[in-house]
Amino acid sequence: MISRREVMAVMAMPVVSSHVARALAVNEASLRSRAAARGLFYGAAVQISHLIKDAAFASAFAQQCGALVPEWELKWGAVEPVRGQHDFSRVDQLYDIAARNKQLFRGHTLLWSRNAPPWFNEELDKTASLDAILSHIKRTCEHLRGRVFQWDVLNEAIEPRDGLPGDLRGALLYKIFGESYIAESFRAARAADHDAALYYNDYGVDYAEPESRIRRRAILKLLSSLKAKGVPLDGLGIQGHLRVGRKFNPDEFRTFLRDVAALGLHIVITEFDVGDRHLPPDPDLRDRLVAEHARMYLDVVLDEPAVKGVMTWGLSDKFSWLSTHPITRRSDGLRIRGLPLDEYMQPKPLWRAMAEAFDRAPLR
Ligand code: XIL
Repeated sequence: MISRREVMAVMAMPVVSSHVARALAVNEASLRSRAAARGLFYGAAVQISHLIKDAAFASAFAQQCGALVPEWELKWGAVEPVRGQHDFSRVDQLYDIAARNKQLFRGHTLLWSRNAPPWFNEELDKTASLDAILSHIKRTCEHLRGRVFQWDVLNEAIEPRDGLPGDLRGALLYKIFGESYIAESFRAARAADHDAALYYNDYGVDYAEPESRIRRRAILKLLSSLKAKGVPLDGLGIQGHLRVGRKFNPDEFRTFLRDVAALGLHIVITEFDVGDRHLPPDPDLRDRLVAEHARMYLDVVLDEPAVKGVMTWGLSDKFSWLSTHPITRRSDGLRIRGLPLDEYMQPKPLWRAMAEAFDRAPLR
């Protein structure tokens, strides 16, 4: 929890009232252009329904974001609900919007145990299962070849608590294949798309806590074993779902980023947001603590040359999984203020923290 000292320290900070901060920020260069000015990309996850039904949100998205990632529309369960029948209609709509906004299009995610289609289950024998995975990857990568610049080929395959070899998550994919499906999936993606960068994506590596340390070690082990086997792997996606109050150690995290870079891999923060569910309800206080926590993290992240970009998991508090998901939402029902824009599409102190962090970033 937040110590009284920390609250007082932030309260003592010179405060540009959020109204002034907002007024200033509205006419300022966008996150998109400030990141691009440093050779970085900034973008956000979005749902097609939000872009279609909310014009103010759609224009803020076009203005602030240089990259778009579908929040759920490109997950296996969404694109192949019936075996052999891929439906890319929503994905194509999102791509058309990204193209119109001159935004990069990021692919998330080809494989995730938590979002396999209902027909893909343990009833399928091993051969049929592998065939199902490989044909899904081939079909999806070919459909978006030349449009997707980076793929999260595999999401969240590490869970040391399951006590399995390689600290792999003992979920559906592991139950069927053990670890063999991982290398095959990356090879299938590379065979279907020679140009898109291929990423492994995961969470829980950010903090100076035992679990983050174990996960960092397990993920480094997985990445180096894939590289040692010559598996086509270009980068690590660090989700970056932060929460104010958790202990962050800049040196520890800097070392982890360096170790990933030393494997010849690029790094993207793929799902950045800052949870505030343990904070008092006061929005100004929450905004300042969220911005301060983000600044501390981004200064370390953006200092690492292997980091190529930052994606937030949403852009406005109006549309954030943090406020609805059981593990992240507040018990008082208030919206989580974990994204750069508030529900009225106005820039918040977090927007400014991100803008200034991009401005301070070494040129790529
Ligand atoms: C979340 C979406 O935001 C929700 O809308 C959906 O209900 C569940 O998935 N890690 C990931 C993302 O890799 O794909 C998840 O997105 C959030 C956690």
